[in-house]
Amino acid sequence: MRFQTLAAALSAASGAIAVPADNILEKRALTWEAAYAKANSALARLSSNDKINIVTGVGWGKGACVGNTPAINSIGYPSLCLQDGPLGVRYAKSVNAFTPGIQAASTWDRALIRERGKFMGEETKGLGIHVLLGPVAGPLGKHANGGRNWEGFGADPYLQGIAMAETIEGMQGAGIQANAKHFILNEQELNRETMSSTVDDRTMHELYLWPFADAVHANVASVMCSYNKINGTWACENDGILNKLLKQELGFKGYVMTDWNAQHSTEQAATSGLDMTMPGSDFNGGTVLWGSKLSQAISSGRVQQSRVDDMARRILAAWYLVGQDSGYPGVNLNANVQGSHKSNVRAVARDGIVLLKNDGNILPLKKPSKLGLVGSAAAVGQHGQNACSDQGCNTGALGMGWGSGTASYPYFSAPADAIRSRAQSDGTQVSVSSTDNTNGVSSAVNGADAAIVFITSDAGEGYITVEGNAGDRNNLDPWHSGNDLVKAVAAINKNVIVVVHSVGPIILETILAQPNVKAIVWAGLPSQENGNALVDILYGDTAPSGKLPYTIAKSASDYGTSISRGNDNFGEGLFIDYRHFDKANIAPRYEFGFGLSYTNFTYSGISVEGTPKSGAATGSIIPGGRADLWDTVATVSVTVANSGSVKGAEVAQLYVGYPASANAPPKQLRGFEKTAIAAGAKSTVSFELRRRDVSVWDATRQNWVIPAGEFTFYVGSSSRDVRQTAKLTVS
Ligand code: BGC
Repeated sequence: MRFQTLAAALSAASGAIAVPADNILEKRALTWEAAYAKANSALARLSSNDKINIVTGVGWGKGACVGNTPAINSIGYPSLCLQDGPLGVRYAKSVNAFTPGIQAASTWDRALIRERGKFMGEETKGLGIHVLLGPVAGPLGKHANGGRNWEGFGADPYLQGIAMAETIEGMQGAGIQANAKHFILNEQELNRETMSSTVDDRTMHELYLWPFADAVHANVASVMCSYNKINGTWACENDGILNKLLKQELGFKGYVMTDWNAQHSTEQAATSGLDMTMPGSDFNGGTVLWGSKLSQAISSGRVQQSRVDDMARRILAAWYLVGQDSGYPGVNLNANVQGSHKSNVRAVARDGIVLLKNDGNILPLKKPSKLGLVGSAAAVGQHGQNACSDQGCNTGALGMGWGSGTASYPYFSAPADAIRSRAQSDGTQVSVSSTDNTNGVSSAVNGADAAIVFITSDAGEGYITVEGNAGDRNNLDPWHSGNDLVKAVAAINKNVIVVVHSVGPIILETILAQPNVKAIVWAGLPSQENGNALVDILYGDTAPSGKLPYTIAKSASDYGTSISRGNDNFGEGLFIDYRHFDKANIAPRYEFGFGLSYTNFTYSGISVEGTPKSGAATGSIIPGGRADLWDTVATVSVTVANSGSVKGAEVAQLYVGYPASANAPPKQLRGFEKTAIAAGAKSTVSFELRRRDVSVWDATRQNWVIPAGEFTFYVGSSSRDVRQTAKLTVS
């Protein structure tokens, strides 16, 4: 039977009266206070053993999900089912494989990001799963080649934070528990389970903790502590990280679970703020650190009963918070829950495409007589067919990276198929050479009006090695000799369009050195809608509107960071990605926030309202930190006009330059707004700056402080394409 949401079922039953799904789902959600009240009365009815069960997974390989805890029948509490991951449900039979986080970030479209979260939540609930293990804000993207960057939302904390909040609200509004992971400083795959990361307090707050504060502010139900150590202590038994930062400073009310097998102690983990151990045993089913060990620790007084009560209370409260205590479906990973959600996959895949280069307006295509398509990534390979476990291969068209954060594709739209079917309506002949071998290219591209070359770069989680890449990428070059392939095509055809499907930046210099390369379409990671989304852009049905969520450098060494072989002291501090390029005065090839359209946008009339005063935040602690950090203290507005000839959408971006005394990066993203504008029309865009957006972390005062002095607000089309500037003096 096809899955219906509760709202759909009700609206069908109520005949003519349509019941808006959002209202119903959101009404089911409680405040934390109400959820805690219910949790407290349930807790009063639990035995000590029940409480131990709630906090201890049943062990690896047992239960329907990758993580499970036992049911507590006396309070109607189910066997909690926790399943990966950040782009939809892993190991399910008939779900959508949503776009990876990095593609969602590339859209810079809050509504699409929120809808993506909601749809993932609906599918998760439809399968009876309680906790979906995402979204990801760690890694943040300190390393351009970090293996799991593609699971999250790009190399900027503000962009990550907004996307985390929208995703979590979307997911939890649909009635499931979200999980913000991996907490924290888990920036690389190499040695992730042994290394220690150390970072200065200010960088911790302004970069790595920042998006987790947004997640907590969005009432995220759970947080996953990471595998690595922080300052020598494992993340999952780190009092400074879990108790002090997350629970006290950010006021997190939900529960902390381990990454899978990231627990190393019984007592220290318990006293340092861990609330749930996953999967409950090691991967051989042997070592169990909580369960009976936790009972013994309580009996001998090494762990207080009140601490275990707090763990169980937090877990129960999160369950009540999202309304899972009534009418929640039973677990069935085989149900078809796709509904019409693929519309979001296509929209995100399409609107996340970034047009990097378009000489002579070669795009959109204008009814070509012949098109030549070249490269293995033009056609479905093993990857698209789910032939490789956890998508651990890069053969054929690419839609996502590899690892636990993947899902099976229900179908896969490959570029060659989508282009062929679209080309028919124009009477275009399409020749395809779906290999990366340069020998085959001439017959495909000879005499073609344009040649489209497909290249890729892949990465993933370190437990799988693909073509010699053990998670993190070995380099930033295109895979499968992509540079040679482009050169071979550019030697024959004068109108070469390069389409890049990639987990993150690649170095494009060799490709740009070919004068016949006229266009570069950065198609990112479009999941199952790879081909369809590309056709939407290539043919101009939609003007491209994606913007880079990271910097594309001229040389890999320009990023200034490299994967650590041992421990990592994060010596670059605040200066990662564009913050580093700006400070060190390095010209990127394509800067953070960059992306072209088929139309032009002009900016005018910047204005600033509000007169924030310098000084420290003072509010009481709410989820997300001090309450006043979330208050709007200034609003910057600007008018954006579409001065070109076709409809398009622009992502207007606000970067803040702090007073010199703040020693801050030259510019930091603190606002963005995507707006669709018809040709010749204009739109006013406003950026609301919250107190935190104009504050710096003062490590001495241990608080956020608005510095006195002159602020500069840069508004424009990218981090370097500034169109309007305004100043504000804070006294
Ligand atoms: C990953 C997590 C994932 C977990 C369960 C770990 O290896 O780091 O992101 O949720 O496995 O599959």
